[in-house]
Amino acid sequence: MLEGSGGAHHRRMTSTAGPTESFQIPIEAAERYEAAFVPGFFAQWAPILCEVAGVAEGHDVLDVACGTGIVARTAADLVGPPGTVVGLDLNEAMLTVAGRVRPDIEWRQGDAMRLPFADGAFDTVLCQMALMFFADRPRALGEMARVVSPGGTVAVVVPSALDAQVMFKPFVELAGRIAGPEAISLLTAYFVCGDLGELTNLFESAGLRIGVRRSVVGSYRAPSVDAAVTTEVESTPLVERISATTYRQLRDDAVDVLRPFTQPDGSLVAPFKCLVIAATRN
Ligand SMILES: C[S@@+](CC[C@H](N)C(=O)[O-])C[C@H]1O[C@@H](n2cnc3c(N)ncnc32)[C@H](O)[C@@H]1O
Repeated sequence: MLEGSGGAHHRRMTSTAGPTESFQIPIEAAERYEAAFVPGFFAQWAPILCEVAGVAEGHDVLDVACGTGIVARTAADLVGPPGTVVGLDLNEAMLTVAGRVRPDIEWRQGDAMRLPFADGAFDTVLCQMALMFFADRPRALGEMARVVSPGGTVAVVVPSALDAQVMFKPFVELAGRIAGPEAISLLTAYFVCGDLGELTNLFESAGLRIGVRRSVVGSYRAPSVDAAVTTEVESTPLVERISATTYRQLRDDAVDVLRPFTQPDGSLVAPFKCLVIAATRN
């Protein structure tokens, strides 16, 4: 996976930049996200999210933290010409790629914590694989609830907690043994939102009544164990905090730990569990 924030790239740029500026990634990273990570991982959840949210012809839909726009594209095909879709993201490079792939959709640069839309502007607000990265999740969900019309739907998909991840759990435990506890927290940013009880509280506090909670098992794919380790380590600051020897050992030992998910051609295919939630604005 990739945080979609460019990981180490954006972090190296943060010292003098403001919050929006600091999140920017190079266009090459956004192109790689669209070419490799969207087909390999992110695309599979978009139709499920749209279905659970009940996206239908004529709806006005917002895709929050749209990245290169896979959810917005999926929704646009469902709402058709009578509907509208807007994709919003902090990252300009992500939006540039989104606009190249689907120039007919409206792409807006902005922050999930300060949505630049009027109250009740959308029938449906979607957010895929991003809630866990927001600095203020209650505020972001509050904003999603504000811009959806009364009776409208807010739907999110987030990875389930680490304990439910049959491949990531042993990999993160291995990294902890080799590189120390800091490695565990750096590699688990994806899974911090995966507790159903906490998520339910978050939605209810934002004035959203949950109608659908679905646990969905999809797949995580990588061309090889080594490619998976590279992606996971190098999209976090861990890569800057471990020695070359430690990194080598992690790569070597990962081959054993991830063997149950390694295919005869050397590629990696593992189950990956997510929570999909759809809620109605009171
Ligand atoms: C893992 S990507 C997911 C992108 C897209 N939803 C998908 O499924 O492909 C996470 C996205 O969240 C965006 N993001 C992170 N924080 C954000 C914020 N505060 N406001 C808007 N977008 C944000 C990143 O720029 C990145 O594009």
